[in-house]
Amino acid sequence: MSDSKRLKIAVQKKGRLSDDSIALLKAIGIKLQIRDRLLIAHSTNQPIDLLLVRDDDIPGLVMDGVVDMGFIGENELEEKMLERQASKRPAEFQTLRRLDYGGCRLSIAIPNEMKYTGIESLNGTKVATTYPYLLERYFTEQNIDASAVMLTGSVEVAPRAGVADAICDLVSTGATLEANGLREQEVIFESKAVLIQKAQPLSEDKQALINRLLPRIDGVMQAKE
Ligand code: PRP
Ligand code: ZN
Ligand code: MG
Repeated sequence: MSDSKRLKIAVQKKGRLSDDSIALLKAIGIKLQIRDRLLIAHSTNQPIDLLLVRDDDIPGLVMDGVVDMGFIGENELEEKMLERQASKRPAEFQTLRRLDYGGCRLSIAIPNEMKYTGIESLNGTKVATTYPYLLERYFTEQNIDASAVMLTGSVEVAPRAGVADAICDLVSTGATLEANGLREQEVIFESKAVLIQKAQPLSEDKQALINRLLPRIDGVMQAKE
């Protein structure tokens, strides 16, 4: 069972942010034994439990106060905030630190053969994405009349599959786009990892622990500069 006195931190189980987030926790002196297939890892030297979950779930876990803290990409965080605001659900959290890893951008990419003379070429198109709220906000800001097609995965195959004209997905090296005959046209959001805390007040002990950990995080980041 989980003990409510232990600080609960949500971390992506597998993906862009996992290794760097866990390395950062270890670098600030938190001893962890992470075993495959387990959802929870107890620290052996601090009253801290890690919850290893899908990154999409992390913003909601923090906003609902189910975990105390989370490491998450700003892209996921902003998308979840827009989604919750649209349905008038709680979307509060505090950002503790912007971190120096997990950099990527959310971009619109089109098939190599598609004619593109500027953003207005997107008028009348369907764009496949896992980030419909960020994409629709961008369309509104740019006065583009296009529609977002929500896909939870394999976004990059949507144009070939005839499901959409273009895509809006995360890009870091660009390898995925290249392998799928797509070219990046518009960057709509730039993202890094952030450390967030739930909005509801924590116990004195938990808050004191966080306040001891933050300067150590700053120290690790400075040492890397
Ligand atoms: C993103 C995106 C692409 C890939 C792009 O997925 O969906 O698949 O990264 O990276 P590249 O430009 O270096 O090829 P991610 O790994 O974040 O996983 P997810 O789609 O499961 O969230
Ligand atoms: Zn347990
Ligand atoms: Mg992907």
